[in-house]
Amino acid sequence: MLAQRAKDITPFHVMDILAQAKKLESQGRDIIHLEVGEPDFETPQPIINAGIAALKSGKTHYTPALGLPELREAIANWYQTRYSVSISPERIVVTPGASGALMLLMGALLERDNKVMLADPGYPCNRNFARFVEGKAQSIAVDASSNYQLTADHINEHWHDDTALALVASPSNPTGTVLSQQQLTDLATAVKAKNGYLVVDEIYHGLTYDGLEASTVLSVDQNAFVINSFSKFFGMTGWRLGWLVAPKEYVPVMDRLAQNLFLAAPTMSQYAALSAFNDDTLAILEQRRQKFEQRRNTLLPALQDLGLEIKATPQGAFYIYAKATQLFSDKISDSMTLTKHWLQQAGVAVTPGNDFGQHQAEQYIRFAYTAEPSRLLEAIERIKTLGY
Ligand SMILES: Cc1ncc(COP(=O)(O)O)c(C=O)c1O
Repeated sequence: MLAQRAKDITPFHVMDILAQAKKLESQGRDIIHLEVGEPDFETPQPIINAGIAALKSGKTHYTPALGLPELREAIANWYQTRYSVSISPERIVVTPGASGALMLLMGALLERDNKVMLADPGYPCNRNFARFVEGKAQSIAVDASSNYQLTADHINEHWHDDTALALVASPSNPTGTVLSQQQLTDLATAVKAKNGYLVVDEIYHGLTYDGLEASTVLSVDQNAFVINSFSKFFGMTGWRLGWLVAPKEYVPVMDRLAQNLFLAAPTMSQYAALSAFNDDTLAILEQRRQKFEQRRNTLLPALQDLGLEIKATPQGAFYIYAKATQLFSDKISDSMTLTKHWLQQAGVAVTPGNDFGQHQAEQYIRFAYTAEPSRLLEAIERIKTLGY
């Protein structure tokens, strides 16, 4: 008999889409993949080289549970160089991906039956992490009026006695919207007034467009918890490496949890990541950022031409969250059916809104621009040819 908590963990619909896409590919079909949430670029070569060198020199043992001291220091320096924010390396906890950091955070801060306030739509695993530690997700429907983000008003209006923390992501998945420094300040003030915790997932930092730089919440609130990762901007999804910045007094509990839950993040990945902040790597990453921006600039108007509605301009990450109701018909009246139709008939794989929450989810589709502009335009042409 499975534990109830395991039964309650929901799968990703995108995994169904991916499985079907793979099946079609095995039958020789050409599929354009706009469904998966990871950069199509490989890890930058200097990082790969550092990983290989680490393996060759026998760096195959455990590191301390909080991470390699030199990596914690490098991450702390990154806050100084990138944001001019001074963070002590002692506050950095290196984790197996942002996922590991989320697990530690929820485990440490969420009491049984207490709630974590989340934006709907939002990153789907968060509510499952909450469930896994016997807490609850408190999903707040957000729309373009708040740039699809939680605001101080939401906190004031919806905070309950059993709400323990608010978790936001900037840039967000699936909408790519970014919180301004003022919005972060307002959120921090509102959450503080409720005696709650503010957690900001900054995993898509570095991937912002239109000349915008996302602000770290640490520049306005040193008591906030920050989630980050080497997965997205640094292109290291498969290396499973992320980090958490916690107020100093919370580091010992994170250390204890990490020791027990996973002992440490992968050693070779930590050594490899020491090269992530080097100038040669950063130059590669900046080129990629520019490519993502070009792709967004290609896909956004093409989707609008197709009749999809994008209500808040995505300014970060690599996603466009679009309302698809204009393409619905008598036979196809929800985004899940539409995405299956596109995959089968046009060989275009995208993610239905249902993966990101419940609020009008059946009307929305997420497009990940993890393909070259020519492929993005081909996807649009294929959908057009279908007559929708
Ligand atoms: C908003 C957000 N947070 C966290 C994660 C987890 O990333 P990872 O565990 O690869 O660092 C993802 C992955 O898609 C994400 O989109």
